[in-house]
Amino acid sequence: MTQETSLNQAVEILRVGGLVAIPTETVYGLGADARNENALKKIFAAKGRPADHPLIVHIGDISQLKDWARDIPETVYLLAKHFWPGPLTLILKKNPDVSDFVTGQQDSIGLRIPSHPIALALLKKFGSGIAAPSANRFGHISPTTAEAVREELGEAVDLILEGGQCERGLESTILNLSADAPVILRPGMISRASLEKILKQEIVMTQNNAPRVSGSLESHYAPRTPTKLFSEDVRSLDENIAILSYSGKPFSKGVVVKLSSDPEKYAHDLYQTLRELDHQHFSTLWIERVPETSEWDAVRDRLVRASS
Ligand code: TXA
Ligand code: MG
Repeated sequence: MTQETSLNQAVEILRVGGLVAIPTETVYGLGADARNENALKKIFAAKGRPADHPLIVHIGDISQLKDWARDIPETVYLLAKHFWPGPLTLILKKNPDVSDFVTGQQDSIGLRIPSHPIALALLKKFGSGIAAPSANRFGHISPTTAEAVREELGEAVDLILEGGQCERGLESTILNLSADAPVILRPGMISRASLEKILKQEIVMTQNNAPRVSGSLESHYAPRTPTKLFSEDVRSLDENIAILSYSGKPFSKGVVVKLSSDPEKYAHDLYQTLRELDHQHFSTLWIERVPETSEWDAVRDRLVRASS
């Protein structure tokens, strides 16, 4: 099937209220027409996700912002100029006609323009917003390949668009602009420092209770194999363990998998590596703690939740 044919098929499926898995530069999303409540309900059923957890609406062009959000601050256009299309989700005040299934009955909405060429082409052809959470079962690791989507959701999705391995490999940065001061609700590969530089103001990280972000639940992004973090030494008597290391230190036991000591490359490989290790029936996955520096914020956040 040519890409044009599969995009047309995807648009058809979205129009009749079906589900399409979409490659983005962060992770694969499970997409539905954001104006169709029956389609939105299918997302929650397929993921096993609680109904009050809001969804990100993906749009293909900045002119569509007004269809979904109201009282849009000027800073949005500044951020969009620098980071869209790209891995930044902005939380804004929602328009009155946006479905509660999208917003989890909150007064806000999450929006982003993804940069993956297939996602963008689909959004342009569809012409409206596509609601898409990560295409995994609730609480599990986000998929970064089409194969991983198949493993997570199987028959529950009508079409999976093949888009290769995701370029970033970790979910978007979520910035709340619906309140008085900007707050990062979920760290991602667009760093706090780069947002602060554009906004010329300080931005705080959430303390976990503000608006509902399922990615901010203590346990999330988790493998099925019990997962623990370590800093100094693996204190395990068990031999059947896997060790995920960024530093390349030697270890006396276990199967050692070395990820990059560059945070962007580490992020790119993390989920796929966890997924592969999950298939191998280790009794425990031990993950070496990454540095406390800000360029590791997003990775550290996911590791802490994966091991909670
Ligand atoms: O990179 C990404 O953001 C991927 C790709 C597919 O775009 N999507 C993604 O969606 O990670 P999801 O649903 O797995 O995570 C989105 C997070 C959720 O934790 C949700 O609670 C939060 O965004 N969110 C969505 N709308 C929100 C809102 N109005 N207020 C606060 N949080 C919101
Ligand atoms: Mg998710």
